[in-house]
Amino acid sequence: MKVGFYYQGSDLMVDGVPLRSIARQHGTPIYVYSGGIIAQNYRRIASQFAKMDAMIAYSVKSNSSLAILKLLKNEGAAFDIVSGGELERVRKVGVKGDRIIFAGVGKTKDEMRVALAAGVKEFNLESEAEAHRLNEVAKEMGRIAPVAIRVNPDVDAKTHKYISTGKAENKFGVSMQRAIALGKDIRTTLKNLNLQGLHTHIGSQILDSSIHPRLVKKMVGYTETFMRETGAQLTALDFGGGFGIAYEKGQKPLDLKPFAKALAPELKRLGLTLRLEPGRSIIGNSGVLLTEVQYIKQGDKKTFVIFDASMTELIRPTLYEAHHEIQPVTKRRGKMQALDFVGPVCESTDFIAKDRMAVLPHQGDVLAIMDAGAYGFVMASNYNTRPRPAEVLVVNGKAKLVRKRDTFEDIVRNETF
Ligand SMILES: Cc1ncc(COP(=O)(O)O)c(C=O)c1O
Repeated sequence: MKVGFYYQGSDLMVDGVPLRSIARQHGTPIYVYSGGIIAQNYRRIASQFAKMDAMIAYSVKSNSSLAILKLLKNEGAAFDIVSGGELERVRKVGVKGDRIIFAGVGKTKDEMRVALAAGVKEFNLESEAEAHRLNEVAKEMGRIAPVAIRVNPDVDAKTHKYISTGKAENKFGVSMQRAIALGKDIRTTLKNLNLQGLHTHIGSQILDSSIHPRLVKKMVGYTETFMRETGAQLTALDFGGGFGIAYEKGQKPLDLKPFAKALAPELKRLGLTLRLEPGRSIIGNSGVLLTEVQYIKQGDKKTFVIFDASMTELIRPTLYEAHHEIQPVTKRRGKMQALDFVGPVCESTDFIAKDRMAVLPHQGDVLAIMDAGAYGFVMASNYNTRPRPAEVLVVNGKAKLVRKRDTFEDIVRNETF
């Protein structure tokens, strides 16, 4: 069976299923994911690093649907989480603590307690204050917390400024110099922490394949200095995620080969295992957001196509100036023209694409907003009291509703008046 999104005649298909039949059955707006692509992406990344002792920890924040977590668990993935809620999600689908890495700049005491009790593989520490807090919590519980220090290597990921995390001005991690002092502190006074490794994640949607080899060089040299100066014998290096995908025509996804090639001999030489935290590169191109055209509106300067999907279902264009291709679920012939694809939300920032060349759709047509699997549904909100959309996962040619659309009752459940 053919996997992914492709046209069969005039129908846009996903893993053998016409998207128009999913829209008809479950309504729009709706996210639809290809289980085939998710598995393919995971296997492709895992195979690049197969010769190394690597843990591929899927970054749950990119798409935390329980059905997708289960699918990836069955593929053999580990998980990278950033909150107590994400911890509950992965545990709900049966993931054991030793397959979970806990990152995030603002871990609360409660989150630390639950994660320690669950026996997570590692806490990625983001500050000195967090190290002290975790040490205290672990001491109270009579536990030793396994930790890595997230280092901010001041490397430019050459990506959008809102998804760049490895520059000195970003809030993430500890500078290389301060991390050595923290390492010494952990070894000498923070007795309830066990320092296992170093972690870095310099940004998301990285497309330049020369960046990771440079990062490897910097981190490997630094790891040697770190071990020498702190006396710590580390066991793991975590390079985070951030592997870019092709959103626009002509773009190419990040080639991981130069990264893997630079990494393999160094890990072997230093006797270190590898951790990676890919999110977008596993889930991004597996998902589309289906939307129905409500109106065509002719303005004085522009033609607007008004969707039933908006920034409340997919905020990436608004938040990151992100590009998403838009494809008709059933092809239409016609002349290409510049169109603004917008949503019904009362904000000028509510758009999916501006000045996009496309064939003018008709009222009632269903369109697919492509490559919406990552940072799509997870960022959906109830702004304008809009229900968050439904989600469908297609596995082996079978489409399954894995999340119902919010009802009005779901939205107001926790309110009183
Ligand atoms: C620490 C960390 N790891 C992994 C990821 C996943 O990144 P991506 O989805 O770009 O692979 C992120 C995303 O921001 C992150 O902050």
